[in-house]
Amino acid sequence: MNIHTYEKFWLAASMVLIVGFILTITYGAVGLGIAMVDDSSPTVDPDNLDDHPGFADPGVEQVGENEYEVYVRAVQFAYFPGEVEVPANSEVTIHVTSEDVIHSYSVVGTNANTMVIPGEVASITFEADEPGEYGVLCSEYCGAGHHDMEGTLVVVPEDEYEGDA
Ligand code: CUA
Repeated sequence: MNIHTYEKFWLAASMVLIVGFILTITYGAVGLGIAMVDDSSPTVDPDNLDDHPGFADPGVEQVGENEYEVYVRAVQFAYFPGEVEVPANSEVTIHVTSEDVIHSYSVVGTNANTMVIPGEVASITFEADEPGEYGVLCSEYCGAGHHDMEGTLVVVPEDEYEGDA
């Protein structure tokens, strides 16, 4: 059978595209270290957060010399605490959960961004290197006040850090 040269070219090009799509999807799923909130995440009872060791009194907790854990509650339409303050040159893990509907915790200008699902604990760990102030936004539509749902993440110079704000 004689296949026209152009036909061969388009066949080859479409094969390359298909393989390309598969590679892109595979890379996106496993190559970037992106983790979805899933069954393996710790769970909490969204109706009884007051009984949870971390979420009962949300805020910043020092857990090591330069290590901090932060518990944040998301609720229509705010974060508690709204402002999180951590010292520079530390490793920070933020645990967020929701009391009501799906929200997100998205640190503007960084790749720290997670969905916040009632009953699940989303955790983000990052190095707070340089002092600076970051906005935190909810990027999941969660109701009439969604656009007002915001917070702040402040990395303060080490010598100015005064503990849980
Ligand atoms: Cu919370 Cu949108």
